[in-house]
Amino acid sequence: MEKLGPGSDADTLQVLAMIPRDTFSVVVDAGSGIGRQTLALARRLQTKVHAVDSAVKHLDSLMHYSVDLGVEHLVQTHCMDMAHIPAIFRAVDLLWSECAAYHIGFPNALTTWHQAIRPGGYAVVSELSWLRDTVPEHVRTYFRSGYPDMRTVDENLSIARSAGYDVIATHVLSRAAWVDGYYDKLEPIAQSLLHHPEKAVRAIAAQTLEGIRVFDSADDNYGYVFYVLRKPEGDAALDA
Ligand SMILES: C[S@@+](CC[C@H](N)C(=O)[O-])C[C@H]1O[C@@H](n2cnc3c(N)ncnc32)[C@H](O)[C@@H]1O
Repeated sequence: MEKLGPGSDADTLQVLAMIPRDTFSVVVDAGSGIGRQTLALARRLQTKVHAVDSAVKHLDSLMHYSVDLGVEHLVQTHCMDMAHIPAIFRAVDLLWSECAAYHIGFPNALTTWHQAIRPGGYAVVSELSWLRDTVPEHVRTYFRSGYPDMRTVDENLSIARSAGYDVIATHVLSRAAWVDGYYDKLEPIAQSLLHHPEKAVRAIAAQTLEGIRVFDSADDNYGYVFYVLRKPEGDAALDA
């Protein structure tokens, strides 16, 4: 797999351009995985990006890709829990996180990372979100077990404001970013594992295929939404 979740460099760079600033001193990518977006950010910004992930094998892959692209001087990996970012980084200028915040809970991630972001700094966090009020029952049923914490965009915006951020913009990940290099790669792999000798593998394969079927039939009722947020200047008090 060339990426571990839905996403594309085009979407990443489109969202980056929504921030009314283009130079950042400390950039952290939380839950970087193998770093598709880490590399896109590093190459566009020409600034070191600190890639944080708890899986050393993902970070090893990221370093491998960064060497291939000749940008290893722009990537620094940190094998650690993203919940501990405030203990390591104190004045983050841009905190980026695609398809990963849910691992520690979206509200918890925003509150935790707020402590690490400097006043006037930015957070860009993508989160699976309901996009419409009416959702077909089979989609609702799938996510009742698949991601019961999924909220509407308005609910997530309210969480962001309560966590101490100003909302700058939102962006819904393009449909192509789910399919190209992600679902189109996952689907044949999952198909080939449907008769695997291990029950747990068969179950994951079936669940993956069900997720793709739901996505195909969901008619854009849900999507990955980028929340582009800013910690207000002089807002250190909230972190006390
Ligand atoms: C779905 S992948 C997304 C990776 C990448 N951001 C992307 O969009 O391709 C989620 C990543 O979060 C990492 N992860 C999960 N829980 C974590 C935690 N508590 N701290 C740091 N990384 C974590 C996983 O190892 C994985 O690489």
